Amino acid sequence: MSVFRIEGGHPLTGTVRTQGAKNSVLPILAATLLSPGESVIHNCPRLTDVEYTLEILRRLGCRAEREGETVTVSAAAPTEWEIPDDLMREMRSSVIFLGAILGRMGRAELSYPGGCELGPRPIDLHLSALRALGAEIDERGGRLSCRGALTGADITLALPSVGATENIMLAAVRAEGITSITNAAREPEIVDLQNFLNALGAEVQGAGSSVITIRGGRPLHGGEHTVIGDRIAAATWLSAVAAAGGEARITGVDWRHLSTVTAVLSEAGCKIESAPNIIAIRAPERLRAVRPIRTAPYPGFPTDAQAIMMAALCTAEGATVFAENIFDSRYRHVDELVRMGADIRVEGKVAVVYGVPRLFGAQVTAADLRGGAALAVAALGAEGETILSGLRHVRRGYADLPADLRALGASVTEEEFRDS
Ligand code: UD1
Repeated sequence: MSVFRIEGGHPLTGTVRTQGAKNSVLPILAATLLSPGESVIHNCPRLTDVEYTLEILRRLGCRAEREGETVTVSAAAPTEWEIPDDLMREMRSSVIFLGAILGRMGRAELSYPGGCELGPRPIDLHLSALRALGAEIDERGGRLSCRGALTGADITLALPSVGATENIMLAAVRAEGITSITNAAREPEIVDLQNFLNALGAEVQGAGSSVITIRGGRPLHGGEHTVIGDRIAAATWLSAVAAAGGEARITGVDWRHLSTVTAVLSEAGCKIESAPNIIAIRAPERLRAVRPIRTAPYPGFPTDAQAIMMAALCTAEGATVFAENIFDSRYRHVDELVRMGADIRVEGKVAVVYGVPRLFGAQVTAADLRGGAALAVAALGAEGETILSGLRHVRRGYADLPADLRALGASVTEEEFRDS
């Protein structure tokens, strides 16, 4: 079994460059399917989720090649409209292909994504929006079959779902007429998708606000795009410095995309300075607890940064309350943090973290992607050595976590481990 061996208790210093955003690159790669031209995407991190997405494109009949951090996709003549079960199981978020396949091929078929590590992940909003655009959707035996020529429609989302907003944008680009999405998600990754679609010749406006308008049916051509920096990876490096002490510079990310995260770190006593594409952090001797952290859709505090921030605040002076409002099962890192000496009580969607003077290295296992990153953050601040397993989760979102942490002077190696 592969593990990360993390030697904690040493302050971090240095500069780390942030990878391209996982949550941008997946919908952008799905969008390449919409155009018969060639798409060139820069800043594509080498994540397992990205490699699965490229594999889906190939199975649909596209050419998809990577050279370094640049991926080229040619969707001149896709031949398939079905995502095979094996890939659907590997990557639940491949539901993001639904709108793109339907828009391009007039039909789409995939297995129902079901739940994931974070609890139930319903797609009712995706489906009712696609129906509003004219798709006929048959849900039988765990399969979803969609077909139909799409026409623009006014869609109001009951929740500002990121995935549903993206699916509608992708489908609506190929629908005849105008589509509007009210109560759209406002995440920076939605703006990135809009910019890429417009680079292909689409007419999408309003991303970043609650109303997005798509003028569908425009002829599309090839395009080139650079994916934005990953705000959650950047939040991970910042939290690592907050937990371990020291000072560092994080580059390659727009600081405005994580201002709610840096606000919490400032409140905890960190000195933060931000300039375009760079965030500098200096950690205090000891963090102090902060006012309640409630996860919320952007621009609120991101659910993806909840576990990571909790790991840093385990050793703060005082108690911090977390309320996880987006996903049901997003405290699976808590038991592992407790094994490292943390004092955390969970009651439903609320977790109270009572700061302890220090954590201790232990053998811990990642149960999901951000939970795994949180354990690495905790390990860096802990006394002694931590062995972190469950790396397949971590690799979904971090191209090379040990190398990035070593850029900050951390002692992290990957090795084969045999439990005695
Ligand atoms: C995306 C991100 C994920 C992030 C999340 C919230 C990707 C691949 N994933 O996930 O990393 O944690 O945004 O920022 O980009 N909901 C419904 N019905 C639906 C869709 C969603 O009830 O049809 C609910 C969900 O259960 C959840 C909430 O809406 O409670 C938000 O989910 P959503 O924004 O859709 O997250 P994802 O797009 O799945």
